[in-house]
Amino acid sequence: MSLPFDGAISRYHDEAAPAWVREAIAEGDKKDILIDDFPYDRWMDKNTYKDRLKALQLELVRLQADVKATGKRLVAVFEGRDAAGKGGTIKRIRENLNPRVARVVALPKPSDREAGEWYFQRYIRHLPTAGEIVLFDRSWYNRGVVEKVFGFCTEAERAAFFRQLPDFEDMLVDEGIHFVKIWLNVSQPEQLRRFLKRERDPLKQWKLSSIDVEGLNRWDAYTDAIAETFAASHRPHTPWTVIRSDDKYRARLAAIQTVLSGIDYAGKNPVVAQAPDAKIAGGPELWHG
Ligand code: ADP
Ligand code: AMP
Ligand code: MLT
Repeated sequence: MSLPFDGAISRYHDEAAPAWVREAIAEGDKKDILIDDFPYDRWMDKNTYKDRLKALQLELVRLQADVKATGKRLVAVFEGRDAAGKGGTIKRIRENLNPRVARVVALPKPSDREAGEWYFQRYIRHLPTAGEIVLFDRSWYNRGVVEKVFGFCTEAERAAFFRQLPDFEDMLVDEGIHFVKIWLNVSQPEQLRRFLKRERDPLKQWKLSSIDVEGLNRWDAYTDAIAETFAASHRPHTPWTVIRSDDKYRARLAAIQTVLSGIDYAGKNPVVAQAPDAKIAGGPELWHG
């Protein structure tokens, strides 16, 4: 069977990837972390990860019980470049939760009908009712980033989006919804390594899209669009938590801690549900293109 992007990532890697990215990956065959300025040399040890994940998942189960019992509403938005690890992080959050309580919303590109609506409208339909947790795998932030990079919206539409965004998000908070925004930050060599792995893995090839393949040549355009998006949307009551995700294990633990540490629930163990590792998670100052 031939796949739509057969070999496209490998060819990009051989011919067009920036030299330093190619070198980092070539050298990195034996290395965990491909970039120099990562705060750790090695990925977290798998057993440590498993133990900590288990303890955090138990806290998520307690949070779920409390959300159901008290009618809380929780929204967590997961953003980041392609292959940053959004899907894998969400999967670990949901693993032991009731799918009727903790729902994932991963919307496809807008239909013709949706394209004619107010931009926020189709996302609003998926907001939680009392007793629900909604995890957005990508969100309205598409307009800030991917839609800019690929020209899927006009400049006027994007300007209107940035103008309306603060009021929209402030309303969620004012309404009493617990609202968390997580930005997973992957480096360029690690992104390329993950794409190369996806291309070779029959179970992961479906994750590759034309946006991913085309996006390889648009790293810098993404960088600019992301910087503009942070400038417009990192605000006191609706801040971003940026998580360095080259180490998937540390990133997943930090994401769960970000969710748990920001909300009270019955039975909370504050030692487990503590704030994430400050070397891995912080504000937009942790992010760099
Ligand atoms: P993902 O990384 O979420 O698996 P893609 O990389 O294929 O998906 O696409 C990135 C995002 O861009 C998705 O949220 C997708 O819905 C959106 N998108 C793709 N094509 C369009 C389009 N023509 N207009 C608006 N959004 C689009
Ligand atoms: P996954 O199935 O997503 O848990 O990934 C498992 C694979 O990811 C392993 O076979 C390693 O190649 C790689 N890996 C292991 N540890 C890490 C880590 N801490 N961060 C990123 N990738 C890792
Ligand atoms: C991710 O890894 O960030 C998500 O699964 C999205 C993707 O890149 O396909």
